[in-house]
Amino acid sequence: MLNQSKLATKFTLLLSLVFIGAIALSGFALSHALEQKAEGEIAYRSQILAETMNSVRAFTNTRVSPLLMPMVETQPTFIPETIPSFTVREVFENLRKNEEYKDFFYKDALLNPTNLRDKADVFETDLTKQFQSDPKLKNISGFRDSVGEKLFYSARPFSIKNATCLRCHSTPEAAPKSHLASYGSENGFNWKLNEVLGSQVIYVPASKVFDDANRASLLIIGIFVGIFALVILLINYLLKRNVLQPIKPMAQLAQKISMNEISAEEAAEFEHEKLAPIVKRNDELGQLGRVFQRMVQEIYAREQQLKQQLQKLRLEIDDSKRARQVAEIAESESFQKLQEEAKAMRSKRESATE
Ligand code: HEC
Repeated sequence: MLNQSKLATKFTLLLSLVFIGAIALSGFALSHALEQKAEGEIAYRSQILAETMNSVRAFTNTRVSPLLMPMVETQPTFIPETIPSFTVREVFENLRKNEEYKDFFYKDALLNPTNLRDKADVFETDLTKQFQSDPKLKNISGFRDSVGEKLFYSARPFSIKNATCLRCHSTPEAAPKSHLASYGSENGFNWKLNEVLGSQVIYVPASKVFDDANRASLLIIGIFVGIFALVILLINYLLKRNVLQPIKPMAQLAQKISMNEISAEEAAEFEHEKLAPIVKRNDELGQLGRVFQRMVQEIYAREQQLKQQLQKLRLEIDDSKRARQVAEIAESESFQKLQEEAKAMRSKRESATE
């Protein structure tokens, strides 16, 4: 099929194949790179979120709790706003109302939490152990399976740096009564300053990471395809203009000559009109044009020569034909008879005159 299609079509087809291959290859490499970039970006955002949550906690602890504490002591109802972690949870829930963050989940996964909901699972305990054994380790991220769903996680070590936190997290005796009333005196105590107590983990469904990466790679591949399509169109146009169009008149002339459809004068005119610009070129096409021009001139010169020779031959044939006819007449019987008769008459006349 390729052998039968035109040069421009063939070229376009081959170029498209090359481009499709290039796009497939770069798409493959790209999607991997973009996935890593998407992971990196989510991990980075998670770091900032965890930092922000800690700041919210510190603010509640130092600024809000002291204001509310007198009410906590006097009022029978528990005021959750005194608890820094309550604020953190609320703030994070507000954040999740934002479309950008609705897929983010935040967890303070502690080995010994106040609220057992925050208890680290096996996976998170393992993360915390890694942070404990390597104090320089600031972040771990990756994928994990959780109840049939694949999650991307980004974890950072958690420790308390502010001694005021110890009021509710050191010994039950130091904690406000309402705290003990709600959470008991079993959990969330004996925390030590600057000691890794657990991990702050942000979870995002893995599909979000892949969706982000796919969206980015689709965009880039779309741009690629657009540019390639433009390049193919441009190459096609340039090929037609610079290579195929100059060849066309040569092909037309050659065809006309081969079919004997054109006279020497017409050929000369054609040559003057259409071949002249090609012949002037310095490239291979110009060279081809000059060779072609010489060839055409040669063909007509030979034809001319042949015609003249034919004419001469015809004349020669006419001459020899006439000579032969004369000879034939001379050789014919009747002519001989006539000659004999003439001879006899001549001898008769001679004898009569004697
Ligand atoms: C007024 C008492 C109080 C103070 C002060 C306090 N916390 Fe808490 N903290 C709590 C209570 C109560 C919870 C459990 C809240 C819940 O139901 O999630 C908690 C929960 C937490 C949690 C979640 C894990 C868990 O134990 O359930 C972290 C992390 C935490 N606190 C860190 C801090 C830090 C850091 C500070 C200091 C900036 C601090 N807390 C100060 C009372 C306090």
